[in-house]
Amino acid sequence: MDVRPPGTAHGVLLLSSNGMDVLYGGSYVTYKVIGGVLDFYFFAGPSPLAVVDQYTQLVGRPAPMPYWSFGFHQCRYGYVNVSDLKGVVAGYAMAKIPLEVMWTDIDYMDKYQDFTLNPVNFSFAELRPFVDRLHQNGQKYVVIIDPGISTDPTYGTFIRGMQQDIFLKRNGTNYVGNVWPGDVYFPDFLNPRAAEFWSDEISRFRRAIPVDGIWIDMNELSNFLSPEPLNSLDDPPYRINNSGVHRPINNKTTPASALHYGGVTEYDAHNLFGLLESRATNRALLRDTGRRPYVLSRSTFVGSGRYTAHWTGDNDATWEDLRYSINTMLSFGLFGVPMVGADICGFRKNTTEELCGRWIQLGAFYPFARDHSTIGTIRRELFLWPSVAASARKSLGLRYRLLPYIYTRMYEAHTTGAPIARPLFFSYPEDVTAYGVDTQFLLGRGVLVSPVLEQGATTVDAYFPAGRWFSIYDHSLAIDTRSGKRVTLPALPDAPYVHVAGGSILPLQQSAMTTARARRTPFHLLVALAEDGTAAGELFLDDGESPEMGATKSEFSLVKFSCATRSDGMIRLRSQVVHNSYAPSRKLVISKVVLMGLQSPEPPKKLTVFVNGAKVETNSAVSTGYKSRRVLGAAHVSGLSLVVGDEFELKVDMSN
Ligand code: NOJ
Repeated sequence: MDVRPPGTAHGVLLLSSNGMDVLYGGSYVTYKVIGGVLDFYFFAGPSPLAVVDQYTQLVGRPAPMPYWSFGFHQCRYGYVNVSDLKGVVAGYAMAKIPLEVMWTDIDYMDKYQDFTLNPVNFSFAELRPFVDRLHQNGQKYVVIIDPGISTDPTYGTFIRGMQQDIFLKRNGTNYVGNVWPGDVYFPDFLNPRAAEFWSDEISRFRRAIPVDGIWIDMNELSNFLSPEPLNSLDDPPYRINNSGVHRPINNKTTPASALHYGGVTEYDAHNLFGLLESRATNRALLRDTGRRPYVLSRSTFVGSGRYTAHWTGDNDATWEDLRYSINTMLSFGLFGVPMVGADICGFRKNTTEELCGRWIQLGAFYPFARDHSTIGTIRRELFLWPSVAASARKSLGLRYRLLPYIYTRMYEAHTTGAPIARPLFFSYPEDVTAYGVDTQFLLGRGVLVSPVLEQGATTVDAYFPAGRWFSIYDHSLAIDTRSGKRVTLPALPDAPYVHVAGGSILPLQQSAMTTARARRTPFHLLVALAEDGTAAGELFLDDGESPEMGATKSEFSLVKFSCATRSDGMIRLRSQVVHNSYAPSRKLVISKVVLMGLQSPEPPKKLTVFVNGAKVETNSAVSTGYKSRRVLGAAHVSGLSLVVGDEFELKVDMSN
């Protein structure tokens, strides 16, 4: 995507699965491609949003993600046994930190073979009740699977794969790679029978352990061997940059001379493996559960967002990788894979209390928020240090309050391609200073996150594009700028700065230990008035697990909110119901409205509230309040019961 003053954008896509180097030279891009067809697409824009809209129309809109997947996830490579898992779940509960999803890495498998359970440490007798208890508590369970199928002749999955003849070939026989279980064959997902095989294996496994999602790893394809060249495909004359080095193309992967179904060479199809496996896994889950699939894939390609979420792979527990997680996440949003996050607290190396604390402060605002680490390093569950636990409670607490807003961004991503986490330039393309900002990001267009990214930092340097920015914590006007402003703020101990852009209305709910419980709490509307006294926002709701999101036949509610200020100071907030087949059967109410950015910093003598024209008497249930906030005031009306899905008009008269 090219963005340039005065804020115009266009996009270019070379749709090729062949190996390539892409060199960016400031004013040009050079593609050095070692094969394939030159299919170029140009997206005319003219805004960043228009570019991702056009791009995702072509490659596929981002898949809707289940509501629960926006909760907090805990994983580790190296969980010892089911008691270990139970201890982690209990640790979160005791520390009152929300935990939505418990994960297990390859440790749960028998001999690292997919779709099996380690009979000693993760036996069916212990694991199944554990998973059932998670489910009773509204929590979820996700496991890893790897593409390589062990060639152990007694292994059922292998036997069935052989019967169906679905493995990748080389030189007339199945190609033998080597990954965690030792010798493996790789399913050839270009073969339609391989998707059938995969789906069947997933269903068989789910009958034993009803996992809620599947994590597909090592699918670049990763191989512990570097196959010897057979022919010129295996070591072409131009060596592309392969992990930072111009080494042979077969390095640590399947050989380019391997053959897929239909005679397609691995040379041409290599980069499609993760995409095709994501598609097969997504469809398998959909078929088996009838619910919205959750797939997390390490390898992605153009169009992967249609099937899978993504994490940014093996990072280090370093301050550098903490910083780097922001631009990686933002890139994937632009690629049409908006459900993305980095391993919170760092995967490799020993994290520290300070780093892990800062990481959860930032990671609480990744679209996909998972703590994960590798074997042999110190543990980093968030309850292990009191200061990290405090950061987790505060930052994840705010995330859970923002869930209705974040989930509405998922709907927006699914229907327009707009990323959930966005670079500043995405919403402010006319602001050249915003182009270079990679230490902050926006959630939607209304929420700006400015985390601490440096060890020992006592301040945060943040950039604010033109407009009003309100603190989400105390509702004060933090920044008011005509043309953008750099500000140094004192670092908060336990949370990032989170500011609300003037002009936005955020639907919030209350925090809870699970998303299911948070969903049962009353809604609040947080209204941030722009300088002209207006604001707008929307709320999308559905059951969070139906396969379709916002499709005509599915049940959903979409409500738009708008707010305006009359010249006499009267504020009018209206809801407009665009679609309403979900909310009516659930008693969902908005109990509180907070208005930020009121002209007078002084409390009014009287604050009168009208709902649909009728004056609301303040009593033990309904109360109002006014906070003087330096230059502008903030008011709230509590104890309301505005039904989500009923159109309403709320007027607040402070004219006395
Ligand atoms: C590599 C993955 O990137 C990592 O997240 C995982 O823990 C290991 N494989 C072990 O499965």
